[in-house]
Amino acid sequence: MSALKLASATRPLRGALAVPADKSISHRAAIFASLAEGATRLENFLPSETTHATLDCLRALGADIEQLDATTLVVRGHGLRGLREPSDVLFCKGSGTTIRLLAGLCAGQNFLSILDGTPALKRRPMARVAEPLRAMGATILARDDGKLSPLAIRGGNLRGIEYTMNVASAQVKSAILLAALFADSPTTVREPSLSRDHTERMLKGCGAELRITNCELRINPASKIAIPNSQFTIPKDFSSAAFFIVAALMVANSELRIENVGVNAMRIGMLDALARMGAQITLENAREESGEPVADVLVRASELRGATVGGDEAPKMIDEFPVFAIAATQAHGETLVRDARELRVKESDRIATLAQEIRKMGAQIEERADGFVIAGPTPLHGAHVHAHNDHRLAMSLAVAAFVARGETVIEGWECVADSFPNFENGLAQIR
Ligand code: S3P
Repeated sequence: MSALKLASATRPLRGALAVPADKSISHRAAIFASLAEGATRLENFLPSETTHATLDCLRALGADIEQLDATTLVVRGHGLRGLREPSDVLFCKGSGTTIRLLAGLCAGQNFLSILDGTPALKRRPMARVAEPLRAMGATILARDDGKLSPLAIRGGNLRGIEYTMNVASAQVKSAILLAALFADSPTTVREPSLSRDHTERMLKGCGAELRITNCELRINPASKIAIPNSQFTIPKDFSSAAFFIVAALMVANSELRIENVGVNAMRIGMLDALARMGAQITLENAREESGEPVADVLVRASELRGATVGGDEAPKMIDEFPVFAIAATQAHGETLVRDARELRVKESDRIATLAQEIRKMGAQIEERADGFVIAGPTPLHGAHVHAHNDHRLAMSLAVAAFVARGETVIEGWECVADSFPNFENGLAQIR
């Protein structure tokens, strides 16, 4: 285990910063390129533990993936029906996106796939994907009465279903959509509220027949996937930018520009919440790249006041709640987060681990079953804290350390490699 020592910021955060590529879109781009025929060039791919897990699994399923440099790949697929039975277990490391999306893909295949991961991944709920995929006709065996990985999937001969999801989850939705490509009839999926739509955008871009009305999607089976111009550029990850957005809001006189960030409306709920709290954040130079909205994010240090966040907004900022909590510790008044029960089944139980660790730094936080309440502003102090094998918690604690008095030590820092391998370099660019 490695630890990171951080002192508080002594001067404003200023200048321009580049963050790594989007994790969700990187996984999907690799999957779609593996289903296309011939070579697809992926530019600005995220090199991380989780995306590399997906690449290794796709190689085991028959895709030929060449890494030209750290962020450029050439993926040679053999067509939508060109995957082959892997000779070994598909090891998804700690990546929920890998195991759930590939469960959907493997459910469409007429061979056996076994998907497994780290002890942390083995604790995460898989019934949410196994249940609809079984309803489509796949055989899925799993631990704990079919609910926990490893998953043994024998797929093929799927039928389309009508399915209403219990939780808003892009991973579950994407698993069903991927399986639906291989079914013998159309599939309809309904979500309780909208989650990120990167898979839908990619499917449409690749020629799949997809109809979207509010929270309902209907997709037809497909015979091929065609990536426009055989090229895909991945935007920078808003979820990684979020750490620096919050840091710049809190450190007096900061003014930071984060460039080429993916600003898909399903991902930037935190900006709306922070705007209600008084944050000065603007999006500039808005454009579209490879079917996703992209912009530069400009952040100025701001006085914040507490707010309530929940309802349909929660899935749109699900990965940002840990760092949003740090902003809330510096806001005047109470910040209430609700309807975010999903936080309990992320890389860690993010409500419990967040509360436990930021309390050590002096935060006033009360846990709720589906969120938390934070009273602010509270002066934070440095402390010895733990990342709980959760990259987003680790980086949120680093942001807290910026505004804390004295030194902070974050144990288990290495998990940041799941989404942001060079976070310290990012810090160095602006400190
Ligand atoms: C992701 C979806 C979200 C998110 C995760 C990545 C994706 O999970 O928390 O980090 O790439 O589809 P859920 O879909 O389970 O909410």
